[in-house]
Amino acid sequence: MSHDLFQAATAAMAKAYAPYSKFPVGAALRTEDGRVFSGANIEVASYPEGWCAETTALGHYIMAGGGKITEIAVVAERMARITPCGGCRQRLAEFTSPDTKLYLCDDAGIVETVTMGQMLPYGFEGEILK
Ligand code: THU
Repeated sequence: MSHDLFQAATAAMAKAYAPYSKFPVGAALRTEDGRVFSGANIEVASYPEGWCAETTALGHYIMAGGGKITEIAVVAERMARITPCGGCRQRLAEFTSPDTKLYLCDDAGIVETVTMGQMLPYGFEGEILK
């Protein structure tokens, strides 16, 4: 199934800077007021310094003022139905709810819809730190 959030993630993926892994990834998220923020992975010659597509999208979202996230799409050129890495699950969980929808995509569109609660059960919760 195609979807505008899949399309936003795919457009972001085209901007990936992934010369080392050659594994472009795109992510897009929507807030409840309809704004869409997207991002791609950005790699660095010192490999651990690169970061993921989801993280780029979250940076745009935070710098635009944040808000309630209702849905997220992730796509990778070389992997159908990519799932966010562990670190990105924790980063996404920081700004979402367990019922926030996450669309896992292939090159044609959404192939599976899961929730953040399914993606990160028993994630670390920072409430006590506030
Ligand atoms: N990558 C993402 O952008 N998101 C993920 O959830 C998994 C991995 C990127 C990081 C790196 O640039 C490339 O994929 C290969 O690991």
